Amino acid sequence: MRLSLLALPFTAALVSAGHYKGIPCRVKESIQSPPRGWNRQGSAPLDHLLELKIALTQPYFPVLEKHLLEVSNPNHERYGAYLSKEETEELMAPHPETLDVVNEWLSSHGSNDEHLYRSSAQDWVTIRVSVAVAEEMLDTKYHIYTHSETGESTIRTTSYSLPESLHEHVELIQPTTMFTSPRPFRSTLHWSKTVSSDSMSPSNGTITGPAGNPVDASCNATITIDCLRQIYNAVGYNTSATNGNQIAITSYLEEYANNQDLQQFFQLENPMAHGSNYTFVSINGGLNNQTSAAAGVEANLDTQFAYGLTYPTQATLYSTGGLPPYIPEAQFPTNGNEPYVNWLHYVLSQKHLPQTISTSYGDDEQTVPPSYAKRVCSGFAALGARGVSLLFGSGDGGVAGVMSNNNSATEQCFSNDISNKTMFIPTFPAACP
Ligand SMILES: *[C@@H]1O[C@H](CO)[C@@H](O)[C@H](O)[C@H]1NC(C)=O
Ligand SMILES: *[C@@H]1O[C@H](CO)[C@@H](O)[C@H](O)[C@H]1NC(C)=O
Ligand SMILES: *[C@@H]1O[C@H](CO)[C@@H](O)[C@H](O)[C@H]1NC(C)=O
Ligand SMILES: *[C@@H]1O[C@H](CO)[C@@H](O)[C@H](O)[C@H]1NC(C)=O
Ligand SMILES: *[C@@H]1O[C@H](CO)[C@@H](O)[C@H](O)[C@H]1NC(C)=O
Ligand SMILES: *[C@@H]1O[C@H](CO)[C@@H](O)[C@H](O)[C@H]1NC(C)=O
Ligand SMILES: *[C@@H]1O[C@H](CO)[C@@H](O)[C@H](O)[C@H]1NC(C)=O
Repeated sequence: MRLSLLALPFTAALVSAGHYKGIPCRVKESIQSPPRGWNRQGSAPLDHLLELKIALTQPYFPVLEKHLLEVSNPNHERYGAYLSKEETEELMAPHPETLDVVNEWLSSHGSNDEHLYRSSAQDWVTIRVSVAVAEEMLDTKYHIYTHSETGESTIRTTSYSLPESLHEHVELIQPTTMFTSPRPFRSTLHWSKTVSSDSMSPSNGTITGPAGNPVDASCNATITIDCLRQIYNAVGYNTSATNGNQIAITSYLEEYANNQDLQQFFQLENPMAHGSNYTFVSINGGLNNQTSAAAGVEANLDTQFAYGLTYPTQATLYSTGGLPPYIPEAQFPTNGNEPYVNWLHYVLSQKHLPQTISTSYGDDEQTVPPSYAKRVCSGFAALGARGVSLLFGSGDGGVAGVMSNNNSATEQCFSNDISNKTMFIPTFPAACP
């Protein structure tokens, strides 16, 4: 806890619990209406528990960003001079006054240190409160919203407020106005039913790869590890088990990698890798359910190709769970649907990290509040300053945004607000700066 003596003058100026009650609030964030598809139902049950994540202002982030740009630029003299965990956290940390003001506000609503979770850099505070308490803290009203196409239900609001004195110290609080529901990016090649039987049959000869190099014609219809090596012009490149390189794959939304499938894939695609394994890391209760019915297309695809391609490089799988299982959430399964913050909390708290981490999940950027998007991107920037390369899938719909889960809906280039204007649909987090 970084509550130092320095903070005393500020705490002395604050008043006792209840200080904030009855103090006029000003709107912190609001949206005109929920994104298209989400319809307001009844009031949220007052005893329903919310896991509120509070992002505190990061006054030194511009300095961190400057480091990131310098150490990432091959033409800069500091190229590769990555920051340590501690150096990075100093530049992510909120001002001590911010910690005091926010602590005072939280404790006036009954959230004391034993009820809080703080990120390693202290830049996020997570509290678990009932809807009733959240409504009082944020001067708002939560409702149940249901999505007309997917049938998902969630508890959200379209506006929340904070006492004036907190505005400069708090960047955002979620879940409030965020209606996003991230989806895995599946390979369209694997599941396309439109491939003609002609192109399914193995073709002989070669076609030309992006680098002008010859690629087996069969790669036109069926992607294998060999195809990837050819297409990326990396045939004969030998990865190493001992040069310190590591690769990691992230998995969300109860997508699991099946170990038996992985070994079978290795046997077919890279027999040298057969018998090798990865390190499993569970974050926020993330599982890796080995029941065959639980295997996830995305998790299997990502781990098989990444580990098969990079063997014998050390491999890791991060499985990030949603809300901890002891909270009865069955009725509102998408409630905690913002997995990146939990993942960031974990990885940023680690001293040593894989240099390459790949993620094939995302959502249309227009469903993500800009404040949340910026803050998650800042967390990714902090990893970049530490020398981690983060790769995100750019989606399967091109400029039309994320493909729907079942790959059948036609993608549409329309804004999801009332204006319904024609526009390109960027993908988050792939579009982080
Ligand atoms: C590819 O070559 C094999 C053996 O030479 C032949 O049997 C097959 O018909 C060829 N396939 C095509 C699509 O040309
Ligand atoms: C590759 O696939 C495309 C689309 O199905 C087809 O038009 C083209 O002829 C194929 N090329 C080869 C060399 O098989
Ligand atoms: C990769 O390893 C193979 C087998 O040990 C060796 O024959 C080849 O020369 C190596 N390639 C490179 C680029 O080092
Ligand atoms: C590989 O690692 C996973 C995760 O730690 C473990 O469940 C599994 O038993 C290991 N072995 C094989 C052969 O998959
Ligand atoms: C694992 O997956 C199976 C099949 O989906 C399910 O029945 C089982 O409850 C899951 N186990 C756990 C611990 O979640
Ligand atoms: C696929 O999505 C469309 C549009 O959301 C929906 O109408 C259709 O029922 C879905 N099909 C399946 C098999 O889930
Ligand atoms: C948005 O506009 C497009 C094109 O004008 C139209 O096809 C679509 O139905 C509209 N969507 C809504 C929800 O109004």
